[in-house]
Amino acid sequence: MTHASATGAYPAARPRRNRFDAFTRRMVAEHALSVDNLIWPIFVCDGTNTRSPVGSMPGIDRVSVDLLDEHLARAVELGIPAVAIFPITPLDIRDASGSEATNPGNLICRATRRIKEIHPGLGIIGDVALDPYTDHGHDGLLRDGYVVNDETIEVLVAQSLNQARAGVDIIAPSDMMDGRIGAIRAALDAEGFVNTRIMSYAAKYASAFYGPFRDALGSGGLLGGDKKTYQMDPANSDEALREVALDLAEGADMVMVKPGMPYLDIIRRVRDRFAVPTFAYQVSGEYAMLAAAFERGWLARERTILESLLAFRRAGCNGVLTYFAVEAAALLRRG
Ligand code: PBG
Repeated sequence: MTHASATGAYPAARPRRNRFDAFTRRMVAEHALSVDNLIWPIFVCDGTNTRSPVGSMPGIDRVSVDLLDEHLARAVELGIPAVAIFPITPLDIRDASGSEATNPGNLICRATRRIKEIHPGLGIIGDVALDPYTDHGHDGLLRDGYVVNDETIEVLVAQSLNQARAGVDIIAPSDMMDGRIGAIRAALDAEGFVNTRIMSYAAKYASAFYGPFRDALGSGGLLGGDKKTYQMDPANSDEALREVALDLAEGADMVMVKPGMPYLDIIRRVRDRFAVPTFAYQVSGEYAMLAAAFERGWLARERTILESLLAFRRAGCNGVLTYFAVEAAALLRRG
């Protein structure tokens, strides 16, 4: 028996002691969020001097390549390590096979070349999948309504090489075809891009939380049906481990879980099992629901943003792709 209270009814072990004051709380904090953990997804559109807001993502704009300089200045100044580029391909050049994906003059390549000129130290992540380029909104080639795996991979390989040649540092296949990581790795190596990294969207779920992103790209209305024959069933968790194991065996350098907040359990399992660089995507729908609650005054903006991102660190993430990246970086700097 240790030090009992007068009545003897109180506990000796008091976890609240370690929460007593700010310095103690800092000493016992198990996890921390830093700017190094933030990756900023950006939407790039055609035209010049063009900036248009994404309706379902308040505060997020699509910007033309010539505006990237000012658009990225604050992110670079705050020390954000990398951006993930998503192109808004003009509708009239989308086709059934997504041929714009392999055009060396496409938006993602132009944006990459521009960013490498103005901010050479900023990492560039290129999304590999065909949905920004197809007139049916699917991530691959359709045959009788089904996204065919192996033929799609041939295009994804060409798309990856196209991006690597433009200067993309990290190829991020988000298509969920089987075997694409191995094929892309082999093609990159054969062309001398041995240090071009691959961050695979290894466990990507067929999620309703991508709705605002598809609005941003203009691919949502095109999509008849869903992506359930290639993206994962939200009911599954063991299957995520199998996907990650395959992508690592095929040469992925980093893996991603997506969406983020509803899938923190998956992140933790991946981290525990594989102990490899693990990322998550706090996707457009997660951003939208938080932004909507902030607009209504239902949630406190700054604290909620930081808490949501710290949760990813606690779950085992090295970093998070988040539309809040710049705001969070500013909050962290302010302290
Ligand atoms: C497409 C892709 C999607 C996202 C990133 N890459 C959407 C989809 O699979 O339909 C979603 C990102 C977000 O919702 O913020 N390959």
